[in-house]
Amino acid sequence: MVTLTDSSRLTVAVVEVHTDREAEFADIAERLAALLSQKNYGVAEMIPDESDKRRFYAVRRWTSAAAAERCHADADIQALNARLLDVARVTHVVNGLRRPEQVRLLLDDRRTLVEADRRVGFDRRVKNVGRPEGDRRSGVDRRLGPRRVSHRAGHVDLLGAARRAREYADAAFSNFKVGAALETADGAVITGCNIENATFGLTTCAERVAMFKALSEGHRAFTRIAVVADWPTTTPPCGACRQILWEFGGNLEVRLGNLQGETGCYKLKDLLPLPFDARSF
Ligand code: THU
Repeated sequence: MVTLTDSSRLTVAVVEVHTDREAEFADIAERLAALLSQKNYGVAEMIPDESDKRRFYAVRRWTSAAAAERCHADADIQALNARLLDVARVTHVVNGLRRPEQVRLLLDDRRTLVEADRRVGFDRRVKNVGRPEGDRRSGVDRRLGPRRVSHRAGHVDLLGAARRAREYADAAFSNFKVGAALETADGAVITGCNIENATFGLTTCAERVAMFKALSEGHRAFTRIAVVADWPTTTPPCGACRQILWEFGGNLEVRLGNLQGETGCYKLKDLLPLPFDARSF
């Protein structure tokens, strides 16, 4: 029988374990399941795929949405999740924890609701009047991006996730493989890699693949993106990607890395000054 008052919630992720990391993965999965049940956050199951011995479906039945939120804020869980991201690629496919307003933000509504999703007063075309006299930030340039939900997740190795996503790049024409990892406000990590093809012109960069994947899975609020390529310096997003990241992700933190360990960190507003977006027309 269906109980409309059932407080439990479901999330499902596809977990693809990296080669030779199976034993670590089994250990992490077991610890995570034990912690979830000990602390009454919910029940975790890791269901194998019949056709691929390194693919699993991580099914979590949360006691309630609040329990899931406590779990995401739990330092022990965060540490295990960080280890999990190191040994496997995790793609979130079902997120029954999203709040209704995020689900409602479907494409047709986006234009009209975009402001509601952004901080009040967000408009970089008007003069910044600053805060009242005496406020320590008065007069400071406050170019705000979309609502940034405070970053609850602890250590998430976003550059590591981008580095691993890069391995899937299809760069048969340029030989330049790029990986990206986009972090959502609720802590999910959505990855992308560049996909080239015979037309050349229809190539899609890693950053846009990640963003479009995330949007197509219903994510609507983002905090950070990491981009990794194999080059002596770090590789910043191209102009087209900056535009798309800005429109859908706002003033993201952009972390850049290469395979030698060089890193850089920027805010998107600095990479895309004077942007054109839904407020421009
Ligand atoms: N590329 C990306 O995926 N992201 C960037 O930030 C820069 C460029 C890809 C596009 C193309 O497949 C290859 O790198 C060479 O331009």
